[in-house]
Amino acid sequence: MPATGDTLVIRGGNPLRGRVDVRGAKNLATKAMVAALLGETPSTLMDVPDISDVAVVKGLLEVHGVKVTESEPGVYDLDPGNVETAHFAQVDALASSSRIPILFCGPLLHRLGEAFIPDLGGCRIGDRPIDYHLDALRAFGATVDKSYEGIHLTAPTGLVGTSIVLPYPSVGATEQVLLTAVMAKGTTELRGAAIEPEIMDLIAILQKMGAVITVEPNRVILIEGVERLEGYRHRAIFDRNEAASWATAALVTNGDIFVAGAKQPQLTTFLNVFRKVGGKFDVEDEGIRFYHPGGKLNPVTIETDVHPGFMTDWQQPLVVALTQADGVSIVHETVYENRFGFTEALIQMGANIVVHPHGLEGVPRRVARREFEQSAVITGPTPLQARDIRVPDLRGGFSHVIAALSAEGVSRVSNVDLIRRGYEHFVDKLSDLGADFEVED
Ligand code: EPZ
Repeated sequence: MPATGDTLVIRGGNPLRGRVDVRGAKNLATKAMVAALLGETPSTLMDVPDISDVAVVKGLLEVHGVKVTESEPGVYDLDPGNVETAHFAQVDALASSSRIPILFCGPLLHRLGEAFIPDLGGCRIGDRPIDYHLDALRAFGATVDKSYEGIHLTAPTGLVGTSIVLPYPSVGATEQVLLTAVMAKGTTELRGAAIEPEIMDLIAILQKMGAVITVEPNRVILIEGVERLEGYRHRAIFDRNEAASWATAALVTNGDIFVAGAKQPQLTTFLNVFRKVGGKFDVEDEGIRFYHPGGKLNPVTIETDVHPGFMTDWQQPLVVALTQADGVSIVHETVYENRFGFTEALIQMGANIVVHPHGLEGVPRRVARREFEQSAVITGPTPLQARDIRVPDLRGGFSHVIAALSAEGVSRVSNVDLIRRGYEHFVDKLSDLGADFEVED
């Protein structure tokens, strides 16, 4: 039974060694569950992670009349036979901790002709607007009324295929367009689309349901609307964020972790950086072994970017490893405008990190600068001292835990429920890997 306390009292110094099983991606499984709304018959999704983000979407589907049952661990049966309008209070109670509700718009407009979306939750890593989403929905013919409670949408004359150009390859906005266009009347042309592995897996799901979706070169996706969709049966792609997080934990703690379920094709960019920092990895059939071979870690300069670039979610754990590298590293964060907040706790632990809130000029790089980017300059190696830490967000929180695991002394890391949002059985996995900690309520 997973331990439920919200504070971990961690004694640093133990290398993490052993095996973790990574299941379906948080950022695919939640969207796949929403896609089931579009089917006239039930769907089955396999390898669903046991995380609170999934529980939130399960609740949101149920208040809209969808029957969701976990027929066996990680296997969700979703029956959208009686989709109905939910009551505001029910949706609002569930929506505050997630951004997924915004993706209900298209499916609910197709099924019910209206949707109500309360203000969204999710990690505080920037203002995370939804303008691309709302512009797209309006382009399909939806009316969007904003109130202080949230957004009410209607589509009195149905949704019609259209041409949409995304100013930035937004993952969420691409999913919004896909989930709306598949049953719109006519064809939709999406330009500037995100092409993350989770997006491609969602397209595979929609194709199984009966959709006609063509992914063209240079981020163009054509969706030919169809009259009806059937349920799907699908095994979710593995969680490449969780895989990269445990891989980095092996580096930070001088450990050796076999990440079962990890697949090389979706991790190639991460693996290159992992190797350049000094980590070793062995790709096997059922997963990848990540380990610290001993000796020094090397500094690197990276920019986060959309796929197939270095993913923004991968930089937080990597920064912890770079505090132990022998030299000066630079991380340019080009996706979110406020994603180095987690470094404050690392600095208090003894890390030498300088965050440049407006990025760094005049530094050689391959990815074009973005308006809101920031940069972090990390100088190592700096031994980390134990500190009491309150987890600020999901990925930053994982970084704080691995920093505490490598620090000298005993750290109290609180608010770890945030980490449970995206890392299945997180505390049990730490224990299985030999971490030295107690759980406190
Ligand atoms: C998804 O967020 C993921 N979340 C994020 O993972 C991930 O970091 C991100 O994609 C990038 O890969 C989920 O899938 C639930 P975006 P999303 O739309 O869709 C701006 C995690 O830890 N933007 O690609 O919200 C936005 O502000 C999370 O699992 C607009 O300006 O990301 C950001 O700067 C963290 N207007 C950039 O685009 C919009 O309407 C990228 O956002 C939408 C986005």
